[in-house]
Amino acid sequence: MKPKFYVTTPIYYVNDVPHLGHAYTNIACDALARCKRLAGYDVFFLTGTDEHGQKIEKAAAAHGEDPQAFTDRISPSFRALWTTLGISNDDFIRTTESRHKAATTAFWQRLVERGAIYLGSYEGWYAVRDEAFYDESETALQPDGTRRAPSGAPVEWVVEPSYFFRLSAWQDKLLEFYEKNSDFIAPAARRNEVLSFVRSGLRDLSVSRTSFRWGIPVPGDPAHVMYVWVDALFNYVTATGWPDVHAPRAAFWPADLHMVGKDILRFHAVYWPALLMAAGLAPPRRVFAHGWWTVEGEKMSKSLGNVVSPGELVARYGLDPVRFFLLREVPFGSDGDFSRRSLISRINGELANEFGNLAQRSLSLVARHCESRLPSVGSRTEVDAALLAQAAALPGLVTATFERQAFHEGLEDVWKVVRAANAYIDHQAPWALKKTNPVRMAVVLRVLADVLRVLATVLQPVMPGSMARMLDQLGVPAEARDFASLGVPLADGVRLPPPEGVFPRYVDKE
Ligand code: MSP
Repeated sequence: MKPKFYVTTPIYYVNDVPHLGHAYTNIACDALARCKRLAGYDVFFLTGTDEHGQKIEKAAAAHGEDPQAFTDRISPSFRALWTTLGISNDDFIRTTESRHKAATTAFWQRLVERGAIYLGSYEGWYAVRDEAFYDESETALQPDGTRRAPSGAPVEWVVEPSYFFRLSAWQDKLLEFYEKNSDFIAPAARRNEVLSFVRSGLRDLSVSRTSFRWGIPVPGDPAHVMYVWVDALFNYVTATGWPDVHAPRAAFWPADLHMVGKDILRFHAVYWPALLMAAGLAPPRRVFAHGWWTVEGEKMSKSLGNVVSPGELVARYGLDPVRFFLLREVPFGSDGDFSRRSLISRINGELANEFGNLAQRSLSLVARHCESRLPSVGSRTEVDAALLAQAAALPGLVTATFERQAFHEGLEDVWKVVRAANAYIDHQAPWALKKTNPVRMAVVLRVLADVLRVLATVLQPVMPGSMARMLDQLGVPAEARDFASLGVPLADGVRLPPPEGVFPRYVDKE
């Protein structure tokens, strides 16, 4: 049986259309999911939409729509974007689906049975935009007398009856859990933030609201709806079919990785494992908080009118270049700045000049001088063997870096080989060997074809469409594109289709 791997994206609020930030998370998770599949894992990759809560209720009202009709209208725009971006998710969950309401209700009941929830009353600050409660000490008083959360979201004073989750009882157990599972929170700097937050003391968490209706009713007390974050977090478990232990995906829990943005780490790394442990369920194995993108140096916001539409980017620059850029440009985990100039420079530099040309030069020589047939391996020199050995290490390096979400490092490892292969082709000059030493020319071209095959195989997770085209041109059968198949040499003499450039240069038409 294949080993299992379960990766999730956050589920997105449907108050807004999807933008670059959302695309980023899903592309990163997609690259990881595809990499694990190629490495032989049985992968479950989940994404979806977060549809309850006060923020959505307000957004629906602002559009003059019923919240269900509103979410039914917006949720498909996320689904459609994932298709445009080539996201290979295995399921798409909506929190308004009956499977989710049933599972979350059962989860709540489990918490009640275990004495983890009690009725009290909440009095404090709440930010609808963040759907989060804040301690007064976390808020900042504004000149006009109002207060704001650290995120900049306005907070309002809320007084209402509320159910509470006994979060305070989990402080020591959480610290022990982080201690034992040192990879649970990444990157390390984020882990330290969470540790100091938990060490500073945890208060019980308000987990129900009575002042609006758009949520999952609290079982046995329908005047309350569940706090949207409890509802939202549980999506990750719902999708495995819980509480049905025989559900086809039951064995995927606990998730191997929740990928989140840095702004929602606390919910995933503190509240979520405590809620799960309180219900007798296993906590996830890892939470990785990635950074945020600014756009041409500015915060992306509707009021600035600089929100980047992923669909527009793809239409202009092509899907794979955009996917590549997002994972290549910034160390994963750090913040990054999106600029068209840097996107174009990656496209024309690394994709067109370095990798595209390498493939085009090698394959057109095979077409021209080897009657479009893959030359046989022949007798290789030390230089040949050294380049091939460098390439052969890539599946292991890419898997290991992607497993730590160091996508930029994995891509740098791949590019070292691209650069080495370019140096090799320049030095060997196979075009000049045609007349002087055709036997050697064939050996060199075969080395290049074998290196290109490895490069295209390991880059499939990041650029699936272009790499499929490159593998077609190398005559690699569809069933021989996983990492294990790299151990089996390509058949000598296979007829190759005419080579076609995979990465065109981008020329600005404006
Ligand atoms: N609904 C919650 C998540 C619930 S998960 C159980 C939520 N939704 S969100 O739509 O507001 O944000 C989803 C993700 O988008 C977050 O991980 C957030 O960090 C990310 N991003 C939003 N803007 C971003 C950038 N400008 N850059 C990178 N990621 C950004 O929070």
